Order: sequence, then C-alpha cells, then structure tokens
Amino acid sequence: MLQNVKGTKDILPGQISKWQYIEDVIRKETAKFGYVEYRTPIFEKTEVFSRSIGENTDIVNKEMYTFADKGGDSVTLRPEMTAALVRSVLQHNLHSLTPTQRYWYFGPFFRYERPQKGRLRQFHQFGAECISSPNPESDYEIILLADYVSKALGINDYTLKLNSLGNIASREKYREALIRYFSSVRSSLSADSQNRLEINPLRVLDSKAPEDIEAAKGSPNILDFLDTESRDHFELVIKLLKQSGIEPEICPRLVRGLDYYSHTVFEFQSSALGAQDSFGGGGRYNELFQEFGGKPNPAVGFAMGVERMLIILDALDKYPGLSDLPDVYVVSGNTNLLPYINRVVNILRNKGLRTLSDLQRKSMKSQFREANKAGVKFVVVVGVEEFENEKVQIKNMAGGEQIEIGISELAEYDF
Ligand code: HAM
Repeated sequence: MLQNVKGTKDILPGQISKWQYIEDVIRKETAKFGYVEYRTPIFEKTEVFSRSIGENTDIVNKEMYTFADKGGDSVTLRPEMTAALVRSVLQHNLHSLTPTQRYWYFGPFFRYERPQKGRLRQFHQFGAECISSPNPESDYEIILLADYVSKALGINDYTLKLNSLGNIASREKYREALIRYFSSVRSSLSADSQNRLEINPLRVLDSKAPEDIEAAKGSPNILDFLDTESRDHFELVIKLLKQSGIEPEICPRLVRGLDYYSHTVFEFQSSALGAQDSFGGGGRYNELFQEFGGKPNPAVGFAMGVERMLIILDALDKYPGLSDLPDVYVVSGNTNLLPYINRVVNILRNKGLRTLSDLQRKSMKSQFREANKAGVKFVVVVGVEEFENEKVQIKNMAGGEQIEIGISELAEYDF
C-alpha cells in the first residue's frame, strides 16, 4: 500500500480541532496587535531563498526542495516565509503605502532534514513580520506578540534567548575576530566548519557538530564588539521587554541559522521539547530589502513551529474542552419518510446544530447505536406516526427522557 513521504504527516480528523484551536488563538492575538494575514505561493524562484538565507547556510546547502519545472526554471518549495514575504512586499510596493506594515502568516514549509520528534520535512509555521521601523520598539512589539500567542496557548514557562548581532560595522569587526579565533583552532573543527570558516564564521557558531560546539566555547563575545548605536538598540529592547515582565536570557553565541539577521536575534525554547528545544525564533533583518534590489528598509520578525507548539501543548495538556462531536442524530427506520426526515434535518441544521442522519439505510436500532457511538447529545426520532401527526420525538441521550413536540415548534425548541 502507498505510504506518505518520510518526514510528512497526515493531520487526521481526530487531531484537527487542536490545529483549529491554535489557529483561532493566533487570529485573536495577532488582531490585538493590528497584524493582518499575508499569503504567498508555496513555491518561489530558487534565488528568492538562496541569496537571502545565505549560500553557506544548512537550509540553502542541504535542505531545500529545489527542482527544475517542465519549462526548465529552477523553483524551490519555500523553506521559510521571510524571504518570500519581502519579495512580495517589494513587488507590490506595499512598504511605501503606510509607515509600518504588520503581517502574520500560517502555512506549510519544506526542509529536507533528518526527521525526528519535532523535525519534519513538511512542517507548519506561524510567523509575523513588522516592516519599515528601524527602532527597538518594533523588536519589542514582535517579541511581545510571540509572548502573547505563547501565553494565550498556555505556554507560560518558555525561555527567551536573546542576542544582538549589531549593525554591519559591528558585525564586520566581530567577523574578523571570529576568523582569527577559529583559524587558531582550525584542526579541531568539523570539515564543514573548516570549509566555511573564512566565508562565514558565524555559521561555525551555529553548527550542531560536537567538536564545533566545544571549539566555540572559547570564541570571542559579540557583545564586546557592538558599537554605540548597536548597544543602545539592544539595551532598549531588553529594557522594554523587562518592563513588560519578560526576562530574556542573554546568549552571546546565539546567531541563528539564517544569514539575513542584524541587531536583535532571539529564540523561544521549551523544556517540553527535548533535543529540538526551539519552538520559535526570529530577529531583525535590516539589509534584506537591499538584497532583493530594493531601497534599504528595516524589518523584524519571527516564526514558530506549529508541530512543536502542539508537542508542548500535548505535554502540558493545555487544550480547553475541544469538541467537534455532532449534536443531533435524526433516526428513522423508514426511507419512505425521507422528505419528512430531510425537513427535520434542515430545521436542525438551520438552528446551527451539527446534525447527522442515516445514509446506510440501516435499521432504527443500528441508527441508535451509531448515534450513541458518534457521541450526540440528542436523537430526534421520526417514524410513521410522527410523520402523520407532524411531530418528532426528542430523546436526551444523557438522561434518557423523551418528549414529543410538533415540527412547527422545532425551530424554536431549546436543546
Ligand atoms: P527558523 O528558526 O528557521 O526561522 O524557524 C522557525 C521555527 O520553525 C523553528 O523555531 C521551529 O519551531 C520551526 N521549524 C523549523 N524547521 C523545522 C522542521 N524541520 N520541522 C519542524 N519545525 C521546524 C525562520 O524560519 C525565520 N524565517 C524566522 C523569522 C521570521 N525571522 C525573521 N522573521
């Protein structure tokens, strides 16, 4: 029998109410901040991602689903949203219409990674981007939005890891210092890191290879290389967060796996996740609009892994009473009554009740059994006598009591 592709998952009907619940929370919380939803295509021209995320990152080097389409053009299933969104905002000139643009998104993303708990090849992200403000207030707003969503879902005890990569000048100085340091311990680094050391030493800091992690322990601290502008920016972000009751953990070696960041970078971690402990991450990307050929335009954003949020919520058992069970089953053992049955069913549906009726031409007894199994609260019985008298019987499945009412009263009946 055919199976799904490794690293992908079917979201079965039994799980869908959890997904819808998370989406509902996201819609509510993003609305409180005035963010609006953005949707872009699932695939883009390959260069949308390769240039912006960085040629030396794992995402671009190893993880992209890139293929030539029938016309010979290279296209890529989106591994993340930020680059695609910047492409789209520039294309439609949205950044020139309002002073600040606030967007959120939810959808599938694709990375060819080794699947494990919380790591998939098709996964889902919820994210938000705040575009056109260079100020720390917007870094703060974006992190606060992630905090609101996390807390609204009941994820209260996460850790916010925070760092600053500074502006271009600070980062250049740090880059040189890193190259000097890692060159001095070159032979102890992984082959990958030895290769990319001169091209992009920040990637060595983000490497998961144990020998690189060990070597990175003695590396210079980026916070020592921040100039006044970068330091002031970072300090105000921290201050605003603390004033809102969010205590960041400052992590000078947090650089993240994408090349487009400057200034603030952050990750949301939860101990409920195990090895893949980040359920969200983001940062500022002041140079990305230029990479796409636009004028300089500062921006900041984050994305959260929905499957990872689900793992945390499952561990915390934080779902409210979610139910997509039907309310009513209309039972009848007589297909000659179908027009009357359907009249009853329509009245109930128009009242907003989730209403089932038999499609298998089963006996009345089996229909009762099915109704019971489906978990309905009420069964409405429609037999010949009811039809002839324009009545229905309503049975409460919990208490067992049964009453008879006229069909004309059904629309107003309080179930
Ligand atoms: P990212 O850290 O690559 O950032 O991904 C964000 C989140 O997506 C991760 O924290 C994780 O929860 C989830 N995620 C990533 N890869 C996988 C996977 N293979 N399986 C399951 N979940 C995964 C970005 O994507 C940036 N675009 C975030 C951003 C927005 N920066 C600025 N704006």
